[in-house]
Formats: sequence, structure tokens, C-alpha cells
Amino acid sequence: MNSDVPSSLPDSLPRHIAIIMDGNGRWAKKRSLNRIRGHREGAESVRDIVRACREIGIEFLTLYAFSTENWQRPRREILALMSLLKGFLRSELPEMMENGIRLNAIGQIERFPGDVVKVLQEVMDMTRENQGMILNLALSYGGQDEIVAAARKIATEVRAGRLQPEEITKAVFSNYLYTQGMPEPDLLIRTSGEMRVSNFLLWQIAYTEIHVTNTLWPDFRREELIRILHDYEKRERRFGMTGAQIKKAPHRQ
Ligand code: FPP
Repeated sequence: MNSDVPSSLPDSLPRHIAIIMDGNGRWAKKRSLNRIRGHREGAESVRDIVRACREIGIEFLTLYAFSTENWQRPRREILALMSLLKGFLRSELPEMMENGIRLNAIGQIERFPGDVVKVLQEVMDMTRENQGMILNLALSYGGQDEIVAAARKIATEVRAGRLQPEEITKAVFSNYLYTQGMPEPDLLIRTSGEMRVSNFLLWQIAYTEIHVTNTLWPDFRREELIRILHDYEKRERRFGMTGAQIKKAPHRQ
């Protein structure tokens, strides 16, 4: 493992970081390159950030790699993204094994071509026992679709008599989401300056701290991540309570 992580890491780290990786197209346009070159460079940022998060000790990293809306992009761009994803999975598998990273996918994976699903499934199976960090790739993911799918599953359970309507609590509902069993993100980072959540983890980000940076995703590397973590440490997370209450009982109630 390389040890480029600065010695001055914040004392309190988020357990779960989620990232909207935006700006690959603009990065390429600025250089008069085609968009696919931007995605290729973006894949290098993915490699760097995954490594950095593992080294820092982040437990869950969720990356928005392909949204349900991204299916509307030109076919050539979609194919290039699939190919980058496959290349990433194949090339990173040894390092994931060495560093204890478990791969998980959230989203409508079944919409992907068979060869991509096969590689994804292989890497998820191979890394299943890894305990160091969970890398969640959001693939063909949409937050509203995720919530509708959860509601459908719950309705089916109720119709079958396995669940009573009064038993449906926030905790029960969460168990029907893709992120079942995972803590909600503490920090959501969005690159390239847009002030939107773009249908990402809509249920899960209810109390997440948001950091938007103007940096385009292909330029986003570990040095900036560490600066953002220092900024996160200074935030007071109140979960709807007063500052004084939080100081007395610092955990979410
Ligand atoms: C947004 O940039 C980025 C995406 C739609 C896909 C993210 C994909 C990668 C980072 C590369 C491959 C991923 C993996 C996991 C290896 P954009 O095209 O919307 O940029 P723009 O808004 O500037 O046009």
C-alpha cells in the first residue's frame, strides 16, 4: 500500500463517504478532447480516491458511477463507460484483495450487458469476505426508483400477510433499500460545482453533510479529499437538535 496520506488526518472521520463524480465531459471539453477521454481520466481519479479512502480508514465509499438517466447518453459514450468499468474491475481486483476491499453494487444491475454483469458478479463474489472497506458502486442507480422498488417489496410483504402496515417504520423501510445494513452517508461530495443531488441516495442523505467543490472529477485527487475531511471535522452535525443538546449527547438520537 502506498503511504502518500498526509500525517495530519482529522481526528474524527466520516464512516461513509458518498461521491457524485461530475465534470468528466467539461474536463475534456476544456482540453478540446472528446468526452470519453474525460471519463478515462475520471477512472484514474476513482482509483486514487478508492486507495486513499482505504488508507485513511473510511469504512464505506459509495460512488455514483452510472445513473438511470445516463442510459439516455449517446450509445458510444455508454459503451465506453461500460468498458472503463470492466477495465477498472479487472485491474483493481488484485489490489482489492490485498487491501481488504469488498465490492458491492447498488442499482438496476440487471440492465447492464451480460459481460459487464459477469465481471461485476465475479469481483463481488471474490471480494465477499473482505473486511477493510466496502466500495459501493452505484450503477444504473436512481434514488426515486430505489424508493419505489422498496415500497413495492413492502406492499408485497403486506399483501402476503408477512408484514403489518403498523410495523413499517423508518428502520424497516431502510431494510428494503439497496443500502440495507449500511450506515447512512456522513458526507456527500459533489465535484464540478453543481448544487444538485441528482437523484442520488435520496432516502439515505437525510442528515448527510454536503460538500460541493468546483474541481472537475478528473482533477479530484486525494489531497483535496483530505482538505474536505478537515472541513467536515469542523461541522457540527445536529440532526435537528440544538447545539447544546448535541454537546451533551453527541450521538444521533
Ligand atoms: C459525470 O461526468 C460522470 C459520469 C456520468 C460517470 C462517472 C464515470 C467515471 C468516473 C469513469 C468510470 C467509472 C468507474 C467506476 C471506473 P459528466 O460526463 O456528466 O461530465 P459533464 O457534466 O462535465 O458533462
